Amino acid sequence: MTNHEASLPLAERVLDGVCTRIEAYYSAKLARYGAIPLGVDWSCTATQWLRFVQLLKICSFETPFSLIDMGCGYGALVTFLKERHPQACVDYFGIDLSPAMVRCARRRYRREPAVRFAVGRRLPVQADYVVASGIMNVALGSPVLLWEDFIRLILTDMHSMSRRGFAVNFLAKPPRGGTSDQLYCSSPDKWLRFCREELACTVEVLDNYGMQEFTLLAHGAPSVQVRGGG
Ligand SMILES: C[S@@+](CC[C@H](N)C(=O)[O-])C[C@H]1O[C@@H](n2cnc3c(N)ncnc32)[C@H](O)[C@@H]1O
Repeated sequence: MTNHEASLPLAERVLDGVCTRIEAYYSAKLARYGAIPLGVDWSCTATQWLRFVQLLKICSFETPFSLIDMGCGYGALVTFLKERHPQACVDYFGIDLSPAMVRCARRRYRREPAVRFAVGRRLPVQADYVVASGIMNVALGSPVLLWEDFIRLILTDMHSMSRRGFAVNFLAKPPRGGTSDQLYCSSPDKWLRFCREELACTVEVLDNYGMQEFTLLAHGAPSVQVRGGG
């Protein structure tokens, strides 16, 4: 253990350990497959984009808006926005735990003026909307209670970073069980309740888009301003 690690409170040390494992897992995927869906652990572009369609239902495209993409990977959402919403005026900020993902994303979109990327798990700024695709799924054997604490922290951060709302997807429990301890699957109720009761959001659940997943759209501004980075 380094001096820096020894001085952190236990919860922070545990969190650092979880983030380090996630970062290593996704950086290895990118190194193996490159900037394609398999490089962020998705099977194909069609399902990767279907998730973006659901998440972006949180946004009103009538007027310009700013967007934070938590767990942006190599920045595929930027390409999606350019192709599916060419008229939209979006100020995009992608953030990812993996420095390799962020380097790759910066290279891909270096000529885009309204596109920025940063390494980390939260930002000390707010945007109109915050979205996250696929960041709750790969628990890498973390105990469920620990992983659920982590999810609460992520949802709370997403809420505090968003002025108008946030959207996030989860793997749904398969009807006959049989999940691996590497993947976190849940039912919508728990997270719907958390967003309603703890974050005071108005929440919609989307679970009819043909995948073993669901998406939460949480509307509502945080009552306190965002602080800190990381
Ligand atoms: C399944 S991939 C999806 C990437 C991208 N959202 C997409 O759909 O193409 C998840 C990405 O989120 C990053 N990630 C996972 N947990 C994160 C967290 N808590 N904060 C920031 N990034 C995270 C991983 O490094 C990985 O690049």
